Amino acid sequence: MQTFIENMPKAELHLHIEGTFEPELMFEIAQRNGIELPFADVEALRKAYDFRRLQDFLDIYYQGMNVLREEQDYYDLTWAYITKIHSENVLHTEIFFDPQGHTARDVPFETAVNGIHRALVDGKEKLGISFGLIMCILRHLDADDAMATLEQGFLHKDKIIGLGLDSSELGHPPEKFTDVFVRAKAEGFVIVAHAGEEGPPEYVYQALDLLKVDRIDHGNRALEDDALTQRIADEGMALTVCPLSNLKLCVVEDLAAHPIKEMLHAGLKATINSDDPAYFGGYMNANFLQLAEAVDLSKADVITLARNGFESTFLPDADKQVLL
Ligand code: HPA
Ligand code: ZN
Repeated sequence: MQTFIENMPKAELHLHIEGTFEPELMFEIAQRNGIELPFADVEALRKAYDFRRLQDFLDIYYQGMNVLREEQDYYDLTWAYITKIHSENVLHTEIFFDPQGHTARDVPFETAVNGIHRALVDGKEKLGISFGLIMCILRHLDADDAMATLEQGFLHKDKIIGLGLDSSELGHPPEKFTDVFVRAKAEGFVIVAHAGEEGPPEYVYQALDLLKVDRIDHGNRALEDDALTQRIADEGMALTVCPLSNLKLCVVEDLAAHPIKEMLHAGLKATINSDDPAYFGGYMNANFLQLAEAVDLSKADVITLARNGFESTFLPDADKQVLL
């Protein structure tokens, strides 16, 4: 199974570029920017990656991205991710970035987007990895800040294809940002949102009905509602599932208790993704392999999951057909 997964072509659809920040690179960039990290060394930092819920992770994730200041920092971060997935036979990736995590620290929007995008273009030209770049709104901030950030994103339509919603889910339902997402869709952005990771099925309904999402990020808790599950299946709406993230953030108690088989049996278009691999202990191959072993997936199941990934990209149909 391991060789099978390693050799299998894969598409990644749920990946926060700031969540690919490996401790070694974080210390290197901190040093060159003259920033002191509140950890003695790489080991001390890795030891802090012990989370009981989403917020525990987010606190440390925002602290980590704090060392990113210059365009080259964003380039180096993204290039490290691209070379990693190249070694794992990932042919296409649609990645998120969190502009407000940078602009709130007075790093200009364009510094982040230009550095990330330049590395993605190099990945396409040198390694043949196609990509999409999606900006995410931090849902713990207010709707006015989100709208102002979206307006900045519109200045980079040559680089950004869509809008997503991430950060602290509980207490920040999708409806808080309805106007922002309606505006984004009207301007031609594709729409995704984290929903049903920690939040209730109601948040998934809101993502569908109010934000008009094209994919749901996570979506685990949709399974608690049969009518919702049926609807997502009927609409052929993809779920970007993140097994190791679910484990590390205690969305599932144990990988063996992961609902991926229930999702497939319910006819849901589930895909496998790594979310924040530097923090959750594995990139695409590790997510596929550990999940497959934990719930005893067949090779046919694994192929279905990988194919769902390629079918659910935001590539134009002609390009999608080439990958399929
Ligand atoms: N959920 C919500 N916000 C996030 C995540 C996640 O899994 N990763 C980075 N920001
Ligand atoms: Zn995520």
